[in-house]
Amino acid sequence: MTYDDGSYDASHDDRLLAPEAGSEEAALESALRPRTLDTFIGQQRVKDQLGLVLEAATARGRAADHVLLAGPPGLGKTTLSMIIAAELGMPLRVTSGPALQHAGDLAAVLSSLVPGEVLFLDEIHRMSRAAEEMLYLAMEDFRVDVIVGKGPGATAIPLELPPFTLVGATTRAGLLPGPLRDRFGFTAHMDFYDASDLELILARSAALLDVPLAADAAVEIAGRSRGTPRVANRLLRRVRDFAQVRADGHVDLEVAHAALTLYEVDEIGLDRLDRAVLTALLTKFGGGPVGLSTLAVAVGEESETVETVCEPFLVRAGLLARTPRGRIATAAAWGHLGLRAPAGSAAALLPFDEDEGTAPSA
Ligand SMILES: Nc1ncnc2c1ncn2[C@@H]1O[C@H](COP(=O)(O)OP(=O)(O)OP(=O)(O)O)[C@@H](O)[C@H]1O
Ligand SMILES: [Mg+2]
Repeated sequence: MTYDDGSYDASHDDRLLAPEAGSEEAALESALRPRTLDTFIGQQRVKDQLGLVLEAATARGRAADHVLLAGPPGLGKTTLSMIIAAELGMPLRVTSGPALQHAGDLAAVLSSLVPGEVLFLDEIHRMSRAAEEMLYLAMEDFRVDVIVGKGPGATAIPLELPPFTLVGATTRAGLLPGPLRDRFGFTAHMDFYDASDLELILARSAALLDVPLAADAAVEIAGRSRGTPRVANRLLRRVRDFAQVRADGHVDLEVAHAALTLYEVDEIGLDRLDRAVLTALLTKFGGGPVGLSTLAVAVGEESETVETVCEPFLVRAGLLARTPRGRIATAAAWGHLGLRAPAGSAAALLPFDEDEGTAPSA
């Protein structure tokens, strides 16, 4: 996985439940991407709103409003950007925040667009400031000022751009400066998927991959997919492997169950490391509060791994809370591991707190 500071850690690429795409996964994913808004499953509100924006633009014969897609990894932002271009019948240009370190990089992309083209800017929160300022003007007036020369003799030469539609994607909408956020005509907030939507996604993927998947097996896999289509598709591929090697290729409930047990993915989608963190928090620290680094040492992992890989889902699942005094297990965590919270443990005092991200990280 790639961190926000640009560093890269290959050790997480193989983690079965990571919401980010692994290094080899991109090609596998593109085969499973829905190509139209109608075949895009779930996110009904986003689909309805976006459908209207696109239809109106097509009717007016003008470039559609700029669209911001905000939400956690693996929920379909890249997929939606491709659908937007396809629905508008326009070509798609793909770039990303980290690729636009200089204003000139952005100017080069913008000035080579054809009228109506859709520009997908992935990880838009990682763009440089200089590029960001150029983008403001481009989004609003379809114009950029190219600075020629240096110092007092420098002049700004305005350059007209063809009308285009910017589709920005971010996993960290909160990091976007207000002026940039305000320039999008429509923001789609993507949410984790319901189990029933994940079942439909699994059925669709299974058909595309030619895997016979029983309905109850789809339910089993969907329930362990952490609300994330990318994870659902990945679990399906692993279960298919198991079915082919250990069974006759059919994925029925028994096969799905055996495969997920083998891969150590539990009923709510926790893996071995998630469970180790929870177990240490409960059995070694009485449910907390305990500091992140102490907890990480107890499970033999880097603090950063525990914080970025395990905690987001544990917090969202309501099993762990980040508080100013340290990490605390909730009552649900004791229940999930089949343990009873001792009287006076932190869980008993804890208001249910889903506020991940804003809590301090120590
Ligand atoms: N609504 C959906 N219906 C069917 N498949 C989906 C849906 N959403 C996502 N997928 C599948 O999940 C995978 C990941 O989706 P995608 O790459 O679009 O996510 P993303 O939000 O761009 O993630 P990231 O933030 O990591 O870039 C793809 O293989 C895609 O086919
Ligand atoms: Mg993406």
